[in-house]
Amino acid sequence: MEIKKVAVLGAGAMGHGIAQLAAMAGMEVNLRDISDEFVQAGIDKIKWSLNKMAEKGKISQEDAEAALKRIHKFVSLPDAVKGVDFVIEAIPEKLSLKKETFAEVDRNAPKHAILASNTSALPISEMASATTRPEKVVGMHFFNPPQLMRLVEVVRGNKTSDETVRVTVELAKKFGKEPVVVNKDVPGFIANRCTIIGSNLVHWMVYNGEYTVEEVDAAAIHKAGMPMGMFGLLDYSGIDIAYSVAKFMEEREPGFKACPLLEEKVKKGELGVKTGKGFYTYPEKKWVPLDLPFEKAEKFDPFIPVYVGVNVAAELLRNGVASKEDIDKALKLGFNLPMGYFELADSIGIDVVVQKLKEISAKYGPFYKPSPLLEEMVKKGELGQKTKKGFYTYE
Ligand SMILES: NC(=O)c1ccc[n+]([C@@H]2O[C@H](COP(=O)([O-])OP(=O)(O)OC[C@H]3O[C@@H](n4cnc5c(N)ncnc54)[C@H](O)[C@@H]3O)[C@@H](O)[C@H]2O)c1
Repeated sequence: MEIKKVAVLGAGAMGHGIAQLAAMAGMEVNLRDISDEFVQAGIDKIKWSLNKMAEKGKISQEDAEAALKRIHKFVSLPDAVKGVDFVIEAIPEKLSLKKETFAEVDRNAPKHAILASNTSALPISEMASATTRPEKVVGMHFFNPPQLMRLVEVVRGNKTSDETVRVTVELAKKFGKEPVVVNKDVPGFIANRCTIIGSNLVHWMVYNGEYTVEEVDAAAIHKAGMPMGMFGLLDYSGIDIAYSVAKFMEEREPGFKACPLLEEKVKKGELGVKTGKGFYTYPEKKWVPLDLPFEKAEKFDPFIPVYVGVNVAAELLRNGVASKEDIDKALKLGFNLPMGYFELADSIGIDVVVQKLKEISAKYGPFYKPSPLLEEMVKKGELGQKTKKGFYTYE
């Protein structure tokens, strides 16, 4: 099946970027939002982005203009999905809203069309259950900003067909992306799941007064090479998005308790860069790199979220959710990390990771107990680079 025409639902932060990718890949795009004003705002951002690309010589002026012409504005949902081969939903992260939308799309889109959701964490299988074509419903999870970030997680719901996964993987490649397949619809999929559980623990540590936001970010930047820091990254991508993922994880993941730190920010309307204030302030509502002194980096161990993330990743691997290569790829491309968690674990030492997890779980509870896979590796002496075998082998 060749994808010639797509509909993108929602022209916000993600939707406009996804529409731009499809248009740049030569497809006709129906971009839909709930008011003409919102669709136009999305189109204006696309225009700006295409012009910037042309200015930088990444694409020609003619290609930029042609891509823009392939994008069509819609407010009526039935009209937007008429005659399309593929629908990508990027509306707000609310399950009831997504289910209603999927049901309406199902009634109006051609029978052959695949329906994808860009949800960060909601269950694909539930959205699929609102349609008469669950085998054609799939997760297509882009990262922000979609024009630049290379990762796309292609998520199987419990009824998604192999063909739907194959077509979605191919489409992501046509968009110039690097797809990874997530075989089970686990909360948070790969990249977010591996990071949110560790991040949430750090939020608790800050909430409980063990460290300050600046101490955590200075350590993340200076000692772990995270370009934006942990809280800076939250400000950049939107605290409300992370909050809804955390709340959702709390509902679906036994043992996960969302730290109130994010909720307090959301209640105050301090959502990050887009509102001008989050954990830091942004007078121009634009991202500015954090300038934190090295001295602040001393106290916090920026690998705490990594030990926890390795544990989560090990459980994904043990449960057949994805391959170790795809898990590492998702982390590197999704968060611009220099190494994946398995590569990091091999360089830190699996025995060290297990020891740290034991210390963490002694203090913060059994939720952080080391995965049986990690314990097994330690028993077998597969400790990583120092024994030439861990998750990977070394010469
Ligand atoms: N922002 C991120 O970093 C990010 C990353 C990956 C995935 N996502 C996911 O993408 C989705 C959209 O997030 P966003 O950040 O673009 O949100 P956003 O608020 O910027 O945009 C959502 C848009 O959807 C529109 N909308 C509301 N109801 C609609 C409907 N019924 N039909 C069509 N449009 C409707 C809104 O008017 C708005 O323009 C969410 O599911 C989110 O979890 C976000």
